[in-house]
Amino acid sequence: MEKTLIYEGKAKKIFKISGNEKEYLQEFKDDATAFNGVKKDQIKNKGKVNNQITSVIFDLLNNSGIKTHFIKKVSENSMIVSIVDIIKVEVVCRNIAAGSLVKKFAFKEGETLKNPLVEFYYKSDELGDPLFSEDHILLLELATSDEMKHIRNETLKINEILKTFFLSKGLKLVDFKLEFGRDLNGEIILADEISPDTCRLWDKVSNKKMDKDRFRFDLGEVEESYDEVMRRVTN
Ligand code: TMP
Ligand code: ASP
Repeated sequence: MEKTLIYEGKAKKIFKISGNEKEYLQEFKDDATAFNGVKKDQIKNKGKVNNQITSVIFDLLNNSGIKTHFIKKVSENSMIVSIVDIIKVEVVCRNIAAGSLVKKFAFKEGETLKNPLVEFYYKSDELGDPLFSEDHILLLELATSDEMKHIRNETLKINEILKTFFLSKGLKLVDFKLEFGRDLNGEIILADEISPDTCRLWDKVSNKKMDKDRFRFDLGEVEESYDEVMRRVTN
């Protein structure tokens, strides 16, 4: 397969596939960053693990009526995806208070929220991904009001599917981040990845953190936790 790098982010590379006008190759890296790139390292096998976990989850979502960019896993650390134009909005959905919600507002870590909270962050490394509202999104012309309604509805549906799925694997879905894009027909579909890099997952019994917070806050057993999530998700 002849491929040309067209985009490199902090955790993934996107390649154009020669002779293929509809699909890209999405490759997962072992590189890990936190706090907008301030903390940098590698997590052994992370590319392979996140590719595997994302493949299983996107397959589940595709089979549950959620349109995603995932087509198929083609190697240990890469997958074929539909071409999309990413919308510069990071959609965060929370079930349990943690992370920046605890820092910014008067929630206690571990407190179950009365209902899922959907938040939007401006996907901009220069600006440090600030929290913003739908009105900002409309003013910046990142998406239309109808598109945002669709994104919010899909996010809440995805939350229900993933909460049930992870719980069946002994994991609580605390919160997660999604990215959507417009496909070649202009339809909004789920893109990017769903992995321990982009979700908070706590063990159902012990509440042990099993996600990127182990890397962010130097909690140890980083690779082991990513491996354990992969083992549970694929079993
Ligand atoms: P936060 O509590 O730090 O705002 O993170 C909320 C969720 O979003 C958490 O599951 C981790 C995920 N996330 C990303 O995927 N990328 C990011 O850049 C950040 C800050 C969070
Ligand atoms: N991915 C983001 C970064 O590097 C932040 C994070 O996941 O904490 O900067």
